[in-house]
Amino acid sequence: MSANNQIVVTGGAGYIGSHTVVELVNAGYEPIIIDDFRNSKEWIIDRLNDITNQSLKVYTVDCTSQTDIDKVFADNKGIVGVIHFAAYKAVGESVAEPVMYYENNITSMCVVLNAMKKFNVEQLVFSSSCTVYGEPDNPIVDEHTPIQKAESPYGATKIACEQLAQFAVQSGQALKICLLRYFNPIGAHPSGKIGELPQGIPNNLVPYITQTVKGIREKLTVFGDDYNTADGTCIRDYIHVVDLADAHVKALNWLAKQSSSVCEPFNLGTGKGSSVLEIIHTFENVNQVKVNYQIGDRRPGDVEQIWANAAKANNVLNWHCKYTMADALKHSWNWEQNIEA
Ligand code: WQD
Repeated sequence: MSANNQIVVTGGAGYIGSHTVVELVNAGYEPIIIDDFRNSKEWIIDRLNDITNQSLKVYTVDCTSQTDIDKVFADNKGIVGVIHFAAYKAVGESVAEPVMYYENNITSMCVVLNAMKKFNVEQLVFSSSCTVYGEPDNPIVDEHTPIQKAESPYGATKIACEQLAQFAVQSGQALKICLLRYFNPIGAHPSGKIGELPQGIPNNLVPYITQTVKGIREKLTVFGDDYNTADGTCIRDYIHVVDLADAHVKALNWLAKQSSSVCEPFNLGTGKGSSVLEIIHTFENVNQVKVNYQIGDRRPGDVEQIWANAAKANNVLNWHCKYTMADALKHSWNWEQNIEA
């Protein structure tokens, strides 16, 4: 008989998913990983078993298949919650492939909500993004900051899934939901055994930096230094992926204490903004390496500056960042040097 501590983790072999699996085990939960490895590698599971000293349950199924997902819920009697990570998340790719993004990201959310209804599972933590804020009027955003019209199909699917979550609660389905709006996840597990695994050329800044220093990429291009910021480069709120993972556990713990249906958004950021050049120079200092970069044109769609007011997550979820920027950039470089070919 399974204890009532099982958590379905869709996309559990992914970047944030895998780090969250570790924190779930540390907190006494039993994660049930669902991943079809289209955006990850099977050997990540071996690394997770190694870090957690467990033989974790993994279902290699597509989250858009209601039949396959229902079977996971039917097979596991102790499921008390779901963390839904599985989604496509490359902004640029979504502009080229809008149908693929809507089909995958929204269908999988529908499938998860249907399964939760069918099997009476009430707690859902949804992987959302600061991208829902678009280009905010004030760079420091809190959860009352207006949701802007999406700048990309990726962002539109995040907004649509948040709205679907709200409507599902309003429909009377017994649901307690946290919508976690990530800022910029960076870094890797301190062990160096798991981390970010971009498929192909990295879209994001830090993996592009680590691959440049490792010699996989010839040079980093800084996308514009003519923004209205101190050094002309964009500002973001870069948060250690393990701190982000911990927030998911804190969200589940909070949901378990709610006596009625809820659907609450939470910003997950450090509350501090850092520019692209600050990231590059900090990376060089903490790792004693040189980053080969050039200044290039702006990247279409880039927000000039945004960082989190994370007071709500701090106060309501009792969640606080433990790692510094230096930790994250050290851990990302350590991971890059350990990645299995
Ligand atoms: C950060 C800064 C770039 C690469 C995206 C998604 C967001 C979330 C996090 C999923 C920007 C600059 C980058 C490079 C550069 N993902 N940059 N050269 O765009 O803030 O957010 O990833 O939830 O939804 O939109 O992150 O790392 O791509 O860019 O100069 O080679 O680094 O211009 O200013 P972004 P990023």
